[in-house]
Amino acid sequence: MASYETLLVERRERVAIITINRPEKRNALNIRTREEGASALEELREDDSIGVVVFTGAGDKAFIAGADIAEFAGRTALTQRAIMLGRSLFTAIDTFPKPVIAMVNGYCLGGGCELALSCDLRIASEAASFGQPEINLGIIPGGGGTQRLTRLIGEGRAMEMILTGEIINAETALRYGLVNMVVPASDLEAKTMEVANRIAEKSSIALRMAKEAVKLASRSSLDEGLRREIDLFALCFSSEDKDEGVNAFLEKRKPAFKGK
Ligand code: COA
Repeated sequence: MASYETLLVERRERVAIITINRPEKRNALNIRTREEGASALEELREDDSIGVVVFTGAGDKAFIAGADIAEFAGRTALTQRAIMLGRSLFTAIDTFPKPVIAMVNGYCLGGGCELALSCDLRIASEAASFGQPEINLGIIPGGGGTQRLTRLIGEGRAMEMILTGEIINAETALRYGLVNMVVPASDLEAKTMEVANRIAEKSSIALRMAKEAVKLASRSSLDEGLRREIDLFALCFSSEDKDEGVNAFLEKRKPAFKGK
């Protein structure tokens, strides 16, 4: 695995943990971090020994406090647009063929919230907080916040968060459906690894089909989604893992999936 200036990448059995490592800047996402994040995902994408990726932030204060605001100063509209139309870390997560979990350990703001929204699951510490505070800078969310947040928690709540820029606590985020679970800070890593390991044991082929199928729900008509679901379901029948899963059930044993 390549070494990165702004990230730490650690492998624990079938789980890779990518830690945004700029704690002195509350793990704000600068151009380099985004590039490195996308590169790390590219490496992990091809690595069959990894089944699940976890994103987190270094230190105990922040998951990610947003885009690096210092980079905004003096930037023209055209430069900003070109950067945003380039390789996107958020799209790389969204389209990554393996499950990605956000382990949210503190401030999860702006681009940090958008990164978490691009992930498939969000597990938060009780100390985490969430917000899209871009409006306070005279801008709006630009990394999918207006779209993914709205799809996840509904227009009323997304509108409230985006128009007020206010920060909500983990309990409210749970109530909004913005996170899947909230655990005490001291249990965050153990709980996240428990969930990640449980998922990583499944058939990587079935996981890939499941992620693709679920994502279709908000991106296609019901008819198209149901049709594509059948294709993806049937595709699982071409895998050895499907035979292993069915046989293991019939033989009353635990399946040993190979990702084939
Ligand atoms: N971009 C660039 N730098 C950031 C940053 C960001 N999004 N968030 C924090 N930092 C930097 C601060 O400028 C400060 O740098 P310095 O020590 O060189 O002055 C350092 O990180 C620590 O920040 P500080 O504000 O002192 O920490 P805090 O723990 O008191 O507060 C936050 C943390 C996250 C509440 C606060 O930093 C904040 O509001 N950040 C901006 C959030 C935001 O608007 N995000 C959306 C961006 S589009």
